[in-house]
Amino acid sequence: MRVTMIGTGYVGLVSGACFADFGHHVTCVDTDAGKIAALMRGEIPIYEPGLPGLVSSNVQEGRLDFATGLAAAVAAADAVFIAVGTPSRRGDGHADLSYVHAAAREIAAALDGFTVVVTKSTVPVGTGDEVERIIRETRPQADVAVVSNPEFLREGAAIRDFKHPDRIVVGTEDARAREVMAELYRPLYLNAPPMLYTDRRTAELIKYAANAFLATKITFINEIADLCEKVGADVQDVARGIGLDNRIGSKFLHAGPGYGGSCFPKDTVALIKTAQDNEAPLRIVEAVAAVNDQRKRAMARKVAAALGGSIRGRSIAVLGLTFKPNTDDMREAPSIPLITALQDLGARVRVYDPVGMPQARPLLPDVTYCDNAYACAEGADALVIVTEWEQFRALDLARLKASMAQPVVVDLRNIYRPDDMLRHGFAYSGIGRAAARDWAPGAG
Ligand SMILES: NC(=O)c1ccc[n+]([C@@H]2O[C@H](COP(=O)([O-])OP(=O)(O)OC[C@H]3O[C@@H](n4cnc5c(N)ncnc54)[C@H](O)[C@@H]3O)[C@@H](O)[C@H]2O)c1
Repeated sequence: MRVTMIGTGYVGLVSGACFADFGHHVTCVDTDAGKIAALMRGEIPIYEPGLPGLVSSNVQEGRLDFATGLAAAVAAADAVFIAVGTPSRRGDGHADLSYVHAAAREIAAALDGFTVVVTKSTVPVGTGDEVERIIRETRPQADVAVVSNPEFLREGAAIRDFKHPDRIVVGTEDARAREVMAELYRPLYLNAPPMLYTDRRTAELIKYAANAFLATKITFINEIADLCEKVGADVQDVARGIGLDNRIGSKFLHAGPGYGGSCFPKDTVALIKTAQDNEAPLRIVEAVAAVNDQRKRAMARKVAAALGGSIRGRSIAVLGLTFKPNTDDMREAPSIPLITALQDLGARVRVYDPVGMPQARPLLPDVTYCDNAYACAEGADALVIVTEWEQFRALDLARLKASMAQPVVVDLRNIYRPDDMLRHGFAYSGIGRAAARDWAPGAG
């Protein structure tokens, strides 16, 4: 089949490359000429494990190409996917649909023959109706079906998630569109992921409900972690103790500095807005968003507490800037409000991230960027682990301690064991666990 992917970002490029790998012919289109030029030179504009090889092999085999203009690719396509950004609208938190609507208008002008237009971007309920209205307004005679096919991939594991999804949600009541969608995803039938066919509005809501639920799970365990610290319990064991219950499940029960990234923050807020507009407020999700917002700056106070209360004039080393490991995505990363709050409290901040520093520089101009974790720790009064990159999990603790001004570690991802850290002479605090100082033999 011939596929056109409008928007060549984290979702569009991965989905396009994977569809090409399934054997379809895919053209990835983007208005960002620099991005398309880079792809044409064989450069991958984002960091996503496995993506360079997948893109280059499919380009070489003639199944994947790139363009800035969509007209020719749309005219030839069986399916046109809209995978453009849907950020928070400045001012009110509703999803900004201007990119989706612009893409719909451009697609409408270029359609030729029966075409399935598929919204893969995360869009509020009713957006498919609006995309269809825009297309029909521009081209009343167009033979088109507008489908919702939300994407659930996670950055950092995007290719695996796309090729081994838990489910594929297809929102359409059009029989021809259903056939095209089934054919597009047919290579996945071997792995037998459930294809869930729903009406379009339901498919749109499934995506938001899924993200809001996951954000709730994270926020729930974060609040339980705070309670653990007060009452002397261990959140890791609580998470395990509840996660082994199949009704709860162990995923997304890792306490940390609060969720961030390109999806959860904007999607929870957009869902809250949709619910309010429809007079069915989602009070739980409202609480989740508010609690999570507070949490990131609260982490700076935790760092200050680890240094006895004040960090004015102190040097703080931060390991990890991206919102999670294995991505260069800095959108809504918890590191940003945390570092800003540390600076507000008077600290000087040194940072290191394995891949995120180029993206971080414009967002965090007043920090010292270092070459590696040990250089970052040099002379620091405290080291804060913010993103759990693999390479931070087994640092040489003796070397780390020797390079720091004071051996204080605040581990916001709980990747170290408190007793190990104590043995190496660190004052260590994690999230929702007793501080290592309290672990001293005989401390009770
Ligand atoms: N990033 C994720 O992990 C993820 C996961 C699931 C769903 N989503 C959703 O997928 C959508 C895309 O997210 P993303 O992270 O890939 O965004 P992104 O910002 O990485 O990419 C969007 C791309 O669309 C391009 N674009 C904008 N308007 C265009 C137009 N009219 N024609 C052609 N290209 C245009 C931009 O230049 C950009 O390259 C969003 O709705 C997001 O919520 C993202």
